[in-house]
Amino acid sequence: MTRLIKHSTDKPFIHITPSGDKVKICMCGISKTYPFCDSTHSKTKDEGSQLCCYDKDGNRLSPEEWMYQEDKETIDV
Ligand code: FES
Repeated sequence: MTRLIKHSTDKPFIHITPSGDKVKICMCGISKTYPFCDSTHSKTKDEGSQLCCYDKDGNRLSPEEWMYQEDKETIDV
């Protein structure tokens, strides 16, 4: 089953653990260390209001380019 997952933020969620450590949780969806933020979200800063898609290597594609790429990666949860 293919599932489209929409991420609409461009910065991480900061979780404070009971011991006081800060953990950055990826909210943009393109981190290479997902579910943790690796600062790749900086690529999303100029998206504006346009719909953007990213391939598994973090390259930005138009929705049309994404739909017709052959090695689309989906995440089953
Ligand atoms: S929020 Fe996704 S990489 Fe930082």
